[in-house]
Amino acid sequence: MSGVRLNAPMLRRETAAEGKMRRESGSLGGEEWKKPFVFINVAMSADGKIATKERRQTRISGEEDFKRVDALRAESDAILVGVGTVLADNPSLTVKSDALRKWRKMQGKDENPMRVVVDSKARTPENADFLVKGEGKRLIAVAENAPAERVERLRRKAEVLVCGVERVNLRSLMRELWRRGVRKLMVEGGATLNWSLTLGRSR
Ligand SMILES: NC(=O)c1ccc[n+]([C@@H]2O[C@H](COP(=O)([O-])OP(=O)(O)OC[C@H]3O[C@@H](n4cnc5c(N)ncnc54)[C@H](OP(=O)(O)O)[C@@H]3O)[C@@H](O)[C@H]2O)c1
Repeated sequence: MSGVRLNAPMLRRETAAEGKMRRESGSLGGEEWKKPFVFINVAMSADGKIATKERRQTRISGEEDFKRVDALRAESDAILVGVGTVLADNPSLTVKSDALRKWRKMQGKDENPMRVVVDSKARTPENADFLVKGEGKRLIAVAENAPAERVERLRRKAEVLVCGVERVNLRSLMRELWRRGVRKLMVEGGATLNWSLTLGRSR
């Protein structure tokens, strides 16, 4: 976002390192190499936990951090989560601040970044909050083996992308997101997805 005047109070400027990575991630040559700049945001307790041991959501961060996360969402082109997080927490993944949603609108964007879920078996409930709350695009990445009937039901609520045979192939997903104009991708968990991305595993 260098060179862009920021009016919304909570937005921070992209660091030089982030800008460099974002530009380089799209400059590796052919279309097949292009992928968004990806970063993971995670709220973690001092002893390294991101949820309860039953994998239930628990309040780890406070108001100040919620605002920081909201600003990161507003600056991103898309938000990615795993289906485990959808099933456990049912997040809407919307931008909460009126000012930030307005700021996005002023730039000709949807109020919310594209919301993307990796869900190989199409287990996402049709009434999941991210499908029904807030304006903006939704994309559910499924695998070829996902039950056709569940895929069809989800197609009524979101774009469904078949990407991988048994499990969603993250590398292919990144390419597809790039093709849809996503240059900055914020990952919001959970643990399994973060681990796959951190290891550089495509599946
Ligand atoms: N503290 C935080 O910041 C934070 C943020 C988010 C979530 N959480 C917590 O994290 C927990 C949920 O995490 P989770 O590990 O159970 O689920 P997750 O990481 O949200 O989702 C994992 C699921 O995504 C699907 N998936 C599809 N393709 C994948 C791929 N290539 N790599 C990895 N996953 C893929 C898999 O299900 P299929 O095989 O069915 O596709 C997998 O089981 C909840 O307790 C939630 O509260 C914490």
